[in-house]
Amino acid sequence: MPTILEEYIAKHPGSAQRYAEAVGIFPSGVTHDNRYAEPFPLYITHGQGPRKWDVDGNEYIDYVSGHGALILGHSHPAIADAVSEQIRRGTHLGACTDDEVRWAKAVQALMPSIERIRFHSSGTEATLMAMRLARAYTGKNKVIKLQDHFHGWHDYAMAGSDRPAPGIPADSFETMVIVPSGDLEAVEAALERDPDIAALILEPTGAHYGQLPFDVPNYLRGLRELTAKHSAVLIFDEVVTGFRASSGGAQVRYGVTPDLTTMAKIVAGALPGGAVGGKADIVDMIAHRGDPDWDNNRRVYHPGTFNGNPLTAVAGATCLEIIASQPINQQADAMAARLKTGLNDIFGRMEVQGHAHGIASMIHVVLDDCDCDREICTMPHGQIKRATASPAVTAFKRGLLNQGVDIMGRDAFLVSATHTEADIDQTLQAVEDSLAAVREEGLV
Ligand SMILES: Cc1ncc(COP(=O)(O)O)c(C=O)c1O
Repeated sequence: MPTILEEYIAKHPGSAQRYAEAVGIFPSGVTHDNRYAEPFPLYITHGQGPRKWDVDGNEYIDYVSGHGALILGHSHPAIADAVSEQIRRGTHLGACTDDEVRWAKAVQALMPSIERIRFHSSGTEATLMAMRLARAYTGKNKVIKLQDHFHGWHDYAMAGSDRPAPGIPADSFETMVIVPSGDLEAVEAALERDPDIAALILEPTGAHYGQLPFDVPNYLRGLRELTAKHSAVLIFDEVVTGFRASSGGAQVRYGVTPDLTTMAKIVAGALPGGAVGGKADIVDMIAHRGDPDWDNNRRVYHPGTFNGNPLTAVAGATCLEIIASQPINQQADAMAARLKTGLNDIFGRMEVQGHAHGIASMIHVVLDDCDCDREICTMPHGQIKRATASPAVTAFKRGLLNQGVDIMGRDAFLVSATHTEADIDQTLQAVEDSLAAVREEGLV
C-alpha cells in the first residue's frame, strides 16, 4: 500500500510540474503563505458550488471556501451574472456609483451598528484603518490586541502572533499592548495601567474564527463594559465572522455592539474588498467639515484606488442581499452541524483522540480529547495549538486531499450554503478513510 505522501505525489503530477516552475518565480512558489505545502501545493482550475477541480482532473469538496469568503459557494450564478455584466459596463469608473451606495445599504441592513462605512481593498487595510480611526478619535496611541488573534499582515496586526517579525520597526510594536485571549482581568489591568489605550481589537469568536475560543458571550459583554468605562474604542474584526457567525455577524449573534467593525471576504461577495464601519462619530474622522484646520490637518485621510470598485460593489451587494432574503446562514449552519456531529461520531467510533467544535458554519478539528460542549471548546489554547502542529495533522490534511476534500489551514471546515447532505456524508467517509491511513502510518 502506498503511503499518504506517495499517493499524494502519484495523484497530482500536474501540480508537481507547475510548482517546479513556480518556485523559480514566487518565494516558496506561492502567492499566499497559507498555500505553502510540502511537497507541493495543488493547482486548481475552477470551482462550482461546494466543489473545485485541480489541473490533474481531481475533484474536491471545498471547505477552504475562498478563505471563508464563499458562503454562497463558488461562482454563485447571481454574483457571476452581476459581475459579468459590470465588467462590460466598466471595472473602474473613477467616480461615485449607485452600486457603492447599494452595497453600503446592504451592509447596514444586516448589521445595524454600521452607521457609517468606508470601503477598502482587503481586510488588512480595514484593520489598519480601524486602528488609525480609533487613535485619531480618542487622541490616544496604543491598541490592545489579543494573543494569536489575526488581523492581516500590516505592522500593527503582526504584534502578538507566534511569527517572527523582521522588517517591522520596534516602534510599531511599542504601540501594541498584547494580552492573553479570553482573560478579562488582563484587559482591565492593561486599561487601568495605561491611560494611552485608544482601542481594543479582537476576533469576536476567538483567534482564527474560533479555533481558540473563549467564553464568548460573557467575554464580549465584559469587553464592552471595560472599553466603555475607559473610553477605548471596541473593534470587532468580523472579516471571517461577518455574515457567517449569523447573518449580522458575531455582534448580532451575541447581542454585543462594537464601536467599529472590520469586514472583508463575504462582505465583498468573495471579490477583493473590505470595509470599516460603525459609529458615525468615529468613522466621520474621515469626513470633511468645511473647516480648513480640520480638513487639512486633523482629518483622517483615506484614498485607495479600488475602494468601492464597481465589480466588488455589485458582488458584495448581490451577496448580502441574498443573505438577507434567503435562509443562507441556516442552510450553511445545518450542514456544518451535520458535519460536526459526524466528525465527533467518527473520533468516538475509531477511538482516535480528537474532537470537532465550532459555531455556525465554522468547524474546527483538534486531534486531542476534550469534554467541551462542541460549540465553544474549553481546551487550553496552548494544547489546541500543540495538537494542531502535530505531524498527524499534516498527514490527515494530505490524506483528505487524496480523498477529495480540501480544508482551510490545518484544522477548519468552512461550510457554505451550497454544501448538501450528500457532500457532508461523502466528506465524512473521506475523513474516516484519511484517519485510517494516518493510523496505518502510526501517527494516531
Ligand atoms: C480576522 C481576519 N482579519 C483580517 C484578515 C485580513 O484580511 P485580508 O486577507 O483580506 O487582508 C483576515 C484574513 O484572513 C482575517 O481572518
